[in-house]
Amino acid sequence: MLLKNLEDTEKLAEIIGQVAAAGDNLVLTGDLGAGKTTLTKGIASGLGIPQMIKSPTYTIIREYENGRLPLYHMDVYRLMGQTDDLGLDEYFEGEGLSVIEWGTLLEDNLPEDYLELIIEKNQQDENQRQIDFQSNGAKSLDFEKRIFAKIEKSELLSAD
Ligand SMILES: Nc1ncnc2c1ncn2[C@@H]1O[C@H](COP(=O)(O)OP(=O)(O)O)[C@@H](O)[C@H]1O
Ligand SMILES: [Mg+2]
Repeated sequence: MLLKNLEDTEKLAEIIGQVAAAGDNLVLTGDLGAGKTTLTKGIASGLGIPQMIKSPTYTIIREYENGRLPLYHMDVYRLMGQTDDLGLDEYFEGEGLSVIEWGTLLEDNLPEDYLELIIEKNQQDENQRQIDFQSNGAKSLDFEKRIFAKIEKSELLSAD
């Protein structure tokens, strides 16, 4: 779908936070500046988490426990593929929503079932993003369906 501006991205993120369920996993794919952290901030807002979301680049993971569900925000870019023995499965199978920036770098250590959001910048318009959804199992397919059901009821009409 096409996100025309930052507000569209924030609306989508808010919806994702509102429909997320315990144990859902979201992998965010896209270059530096694509909007992965921006999306995570909106998701936190949709979960009712009041505080600022900081990029976890130097900590790998930040946990936020004071929303409707726990949010586990990870950025695995810095690991550069050294992802064995991190114990991330504990989070993936936990009671919260895991949001993993650069998650595809986890390769064999990816969650069993995750929804991938592939974000692409538009060369012509720096405020536009193309975002595509890719589910990888029954749980993430259900997550994707809940997101799109809510998009249809919202004013985020640029979905196509
Ligand atoms: N439609 C949009 N969606 C997301 N970010 C946008 C959009 N338009 C402009 N931006 C800007 O792009 C930047 C994205 O940065 P960030 O979220 O940190 O990216 P990443 O985590 O993928 O490296 C922010 O400065 C944000 O304000
Ligand atoms: Mg980021």
